[in-house]
Amino acid sequence: MIFTVAIDGPAAAGKGTISRGVAARFGFAHLDTGLLYRAVGVKGGDPILAAKSLTSEDLARADLRSLHAGQAASKVAAMPEVRAALKDFQRLFARREGGAVLDGRDIGTVICPQAEVKLFVTASAEIRARRRWLELGGEGAGAIYADVLAQVRERDDRDMNRADAPLRPAADAVLLDTSALSSDAAVAQAVALVAARLGRADL
Ligand code: DC
Repeated sequence: MIFTVAIDGPAAAGKGTISRGVAARFGFAHLDTGLLYRAVGVKGGDPILAAKSLTSEDLARADLRSLHAGQAASKVAAMPEVRAALKDFQRLFARREGGAVLDGRDIGTVICPQAEVKLFVTASAEIRARRRWLELGGEGAGAIYADVLAQVRERDDRDMNRADAPLRPAADAVLLDTSALSSDAAVAQAVALVAARLGRADL
């Protein structure tokens, strides 16, 4: 069975948790496409060459989830040649046998417009920054909320206003605002949507 769930949205909206939950529930493969851009961003050297020659070691680096990697990713992600170099891998993953969940910024609009389910996950910038700040360890770890909020806004701005594949919901995407939802509730809503599309009322 070919079945793609496209999950797009800004940083820290809950895409990762929802994607992992949906993939586990239906036994689908999951690709966090942000990791591809993060790996290119931290590799150094020419980003286009880096995108063309990404290895599994690059994708296993321990520092890919850092704020620095997120900012670096957002910058290289604005380069059309970088996006082009990563496109085929993502498209093949999306249409692999057995079902796939991909999360990112342009999955429903550019990578897989034919996705069977498209979700656009959002939350306010303040709530997303607070989640990121807590993930970083909060005050105890020396993280400064105002800095995290500024970085979230800067990244939103860059991701939404770039010329190539800007962050925006596909016309046929279902919007899911997680500002006031627990992660369990957000996953449950996404699972219900996928189950309905699969025609499985029992799930
Ligand atoms: O989802 P994330 O925070 O790991 O993504 C890091 C950056 O990569 C994000 O700011 C924009 C870019 N990105 C993108 O342009 N397209 C994607 N499909 C995924 C991520």
